[in-house]
Amino acid sequence: MDRILILDFGGQYSQLIARRIREEHVYAEIVASDRITCAEIGAAGYKGIVFTGGPNSVSDPASPHFDPAVLELGIPILGICYGHQLLAFLAGGRVGAAGHASEYGRTALSHGTSILFRRIPNESTVWMSHTDAVTVLPQGFQTIASTENCPVAAMADDTRRLYGVQFHPEVTHTVFGKELLRNFLFRIAEAKPDWAMNDFAERAVAEWRERLSGKKVLLALSGGVDSSVTAALLHRAIGRNLTCVFVDHGLLRKDEGDTVERVMKGTLGVNLIRVDAEERFLARLAGVTDPEEKRRIVGGEFVRVFEEEAGKLGRIDVLAQGTIYPDVIESGKGDAAVIKSHHNVGGLPKDIGFTEIAEPLRFLFKDEVRAVGEALGLPHELVWRQPFPGPGLAVRITGEITKEKCELLREADAIFRAELEAAGFGEAVSQYFAVLADVRSVGVMGDFRTYGLTVVLRAVTTDDFMTAEWSRLPSDLLGRVSNRITNEVAGVSRVVYDITSKPPATVEWL
Ligand code: XMP
Repeated sequence: MDRILILDFGGQYSQLIARRIREEHVYAEIVASDRITCAEIGAAGYKGIVFTGGPNSVSDPASPHFDPAVLELGIPILGICYGHQLLAFLAGGRVGAAGHASEYGRTALSHGTSILFRRIPNESTVWMSHTDAVTVLPQGFQTIASTENCPVAAMADDTRRLYGVQFHPEVTHTVFGKELLRNFLFRIAEAKPDWAMNDFAERAVAEWRERLSGKKVLLALSGGVDSSVTAALLHRAIGRNLTCVFVDHGLLRKDEGDTVERVMKGTLGVNLIRVDAEERFLARLAGVTDPEEKRRIVGGEFVRVFEEEAGKLGRIDVLAQGTIYPDVIESGKGDAAVIKSHHNVGGLPKDIGFTEIAEPLRFLFKDEVRAVGEALGLPHELVWRQPFPGPGLAVRITGEITKEKCELLREADAIFRAELEAAGFGEAVSQYFAVLADVRSVGVMGDFRTYGLTVVLRAVTTDDFMTAEWSRLPSDLLGRVSNRITNEVAGVSRVVYDITSKPPATVEWL
């Protein structure tokens, strides 16, 4: 399989570059620039290297640099933004904080006939975000594109196959960014597009079957996408030698525990132990109102229940985890097997005697995990389910948590989700759910005065959950949901819609 190295200088778009390349079916991996040497790059057999952007100035001595010998490895390089400037600098050119050259946003670009711009119209729009610029071209390079304020918007040394672009081809505002990346991958680096999720699933099943042969493997299944796909993959690889423990803390959505059990155990035949721990969790949560305390209690209890179950299973050799690529990059350790201190499960136990960790999805982005799930035959609704917080309804009920409140919220939430999906908004909205606010208000039903709780509807649209926009749902849909909840769910006297974006609010209420 051909591989592209994304040498990361701290740019905010490094993951996006990797995803764009993988979308072209070429495998790309991100390595921080201080975690790999030039010799290691040379020995690894990469087809091409991308230098990413970064927040620094090349002329700042504290900024991340790299061994200039990387330019002589014979591997094609594409420098982007800071990577472009660093390439110029390493090759002997000059970079300056040319005040007049600073650009931000959509910018008109004109270019010559370089192979990097093959099939791209001469006048196009690119996305710029820089203050520094290449002021003196290095020896052997020529300018291949410019903008009004940036004379060296792109440069090339065709002999050594070194290319740099000041703009960002990976963001969609750069109209022909995709074509440019394709030119680099296929015309310059001559990579083969052989990265496909169907093949990945087959290869991974075969590989893990061999690696785990004769071993007992344990997985904490949450019902979320990552752990479900991990379970499906390892089940195909090693069958009954995989045991999944599904801790049902009683804070799941309506019917969710049963669905997980039905799909995993019934449809796929996974060796699954479902632990019904509702009473235990509710007893621990009784009287607790502080949001962080609720999270701590659920996380801590989860580990205890999981440990107890693992203890009953006898020898366990391997702990499997649904770690995915963004978790690996964020933990900053390219290869170390760290126990994922995932907030879903509040960290996993260390003393259940396993000697190895298996993370079959650790090289995949979320959309790739979904594709693998589908290739493994998981049902669409499981593979595409919206995120659900590990502590579950505990972070969606303000004030004290009781069994009655959980049941009330489960009903209201199921109505909201069903109506929103029936109206065709399920895919357009990123996350949607109901919250139970411990606020009572007066209502009237028939001839009776009521004094019930408040259900808050929350729906947001987002790419990354770091920021989110409240969704403009149609008022007739909201009206229908409100009618159904007040009619069908006893104890609710008011339904409100949350019109706050993130920031200033978070997606969840707690
Ligand atoms: P916030 O509320 O932080 O949510 O804006 C952003 C995303 O993270 C999810 N979330 C959690 N997931 N454990 C989780 O596994 C948690 O404690 C937790 N808190 C928030 C939230 O559902 C949203 O998708």
